[in-house]
Amino acid sequence: MIIHPTENTPGTNKLSHIAFIMDGNGRWATMRGMPREYGHTIGAKVFRRVAEYCFRGGIDIVTVYAFSTENWSRPKREVDAIMNVFGSYLKMGLTDMAKDDICVRFLGEKTPFAPETRELMERLETESLGNRYKLNIAVNYGGRAEIVNAVNRLIASGAREVSEESLSSAIYTAGQPDPDLIVRCGGEVRLSNFLMWQSVYSELYFTDTLWPDLTDNEIDKAVENYYHRKRRFGKV
Ligand code: IPE
Ligand code: IPE
Ligand code: MG
Repeated sequence: MIIHPTENTPGTNKLSHIAFIMDGNGRWATMRGMPREYGHTIGAKVFRRVAEYCFRGGIDIVTVYAFSTENWSRPKREVDAIMNVFGSYLKMGLTDMAKDDICVRFLGEKTPFAPETRELMERLETESLGNRYKLNIAVNYGGRAEIVNAVNRLIASGAREVSEESLSSAIYTAGQPDPDLIVRCGGEVRLSNFLMWQSVYSELYFTDTLWPDLTDNEIDKAVENYYHRKRRFGKV
């Protein structure tokens, strides 16, 4: 069970936004003698369970890194398989997201997706708008691309210079607080172009556990670990 300290515990910042780098699907499948694609199918199921677990545990915003701008360079067969998993998830998601009171937002440009996929993404965003729990799915996401796109959008709207505030309002997570905690599965200790702007003061948690093996218990541990951190934000 996710445990938050009581509100009057001094020095704690409520964990309201958690982000996951869902890494390790390919290795998980390979270890089982299965094609990497199988790992992505299982990974998508785990994603659903993890998001629901976090929302039930009182976390308001969940962000997941599903597909990076660099992931397009993988073999076509794997990219196609990931897009298929994504496509079928979108169709399923359209019917049950709203009922679960989840508001979905995609982080990343939608232009490289097939027209029918884009339409589903847009419909899901529109139909779930205003729902209570915020679920951000980073697909075709790159932190650098996000910043460049945001600057270009501001320029196109007439801005001659940008500020931290204007840039924050032009990135994909506009209007949301930065992630308090970023959890990376799969053993790598890096961010791989994830939330470059938003992560400056995020607490980072790395685990060797491969994404498909992530248990509720390990999420509890990450949250507990978060609440033992001293977040100073540059102050003393
Ligand atoms: C993460 O798992 C999912 C995506 C990047 C789409 P990987 O596919 O990177 O799995 P590993 O890291 O190769 O095991
Ligand atoms: C990061 O995983 C991207 C996602 C989980 C979607 P990668 O497997 O692409 O990262 P690297 O290549 O190990 O840095
Ligand atoms: Mg990987």
